[in-house]
Amino acid sequence: MPATKPRTPRTTTTTAVVAGTPRERAEQMLAEILEDYKAAAPHLATGTPHTTIVFGEGDPCARIMFVGEAPGADEDRLGRPFVGRAGQLLDQMIQAMGLKRQDVYIANVLKVRPPNNATPTVEEALAAAPFLFRQVDAVSPEAIVALGLPSARLLTGQVLPMGQLRGHWWPMQTPAGREFQVLPTYHPAYLLRNYTPETRRKVWEDLKLVLERLDLPVPQRGNG
Ligand code: URA
Repeated sequence: MPATKPRTPRTTTTTAVVAGTPRERAEQMLAEILEDYKAAAPHLATGTPHTTIVFGEGDPCARIMFVGEAPGADEDRLGRPFVGRAGQLLDQMIQAMGLKRQDVYIANVLKVRPPNNATPTVEEALAAAPFLFRQVDAVSPEAIVALGLPSARLLTGQVLPMGQLRGHWWPMQTPAGREFQVLPTYHPAYLLRNYTPETRRKVWEDLKLVLERLDLPVPQRGNG
């Protein structure tokens, strides 16, 4: 008999209320969600074999949370989200907003790299979703920027194309019953492939909506 009862990983509940400052509480909740993710390993159940867990990083009390699709090769190697080419562009987007990467929280729908960087299947996204929703509850951001279609569709619950999702706020409710506001926009990898004035303008329009919602100053847009 093991000395301690194995802990059943939580997938849909919020973590227990813990003492400390809001930051300490959020940090502890995030650490607990990561442990639960490791115990549940939903990527193994859906046949996604990579095992470097890219959980998320940033300010645990961030006002803005960015949610991408899934780690790529660079993220898999370093265990950090958005550190490859798309990540460099995301950093530029955050800087254009007058913010620093460490001011925001960055996570993905999937916590492990899908083989060949494939778009997450619905099954994979749904298996990982409870952990993302708990991350949202823990960070409790005032705005969530959904980067790309898989993230936008999961968080808004809509199956519209990005052209109709972006540019609008969508309410979302976590399984814990908390409501958040989601702004979908193009994924930085898409922006890299379509680096046109038109796409860049649309992304900047979306980011400005975030700044306006949070009453943050809107910097003049440079040439970037
Ligand atoms: N693309 C994503 O969606 N997430 C990452 O972390 C990196 C690239």
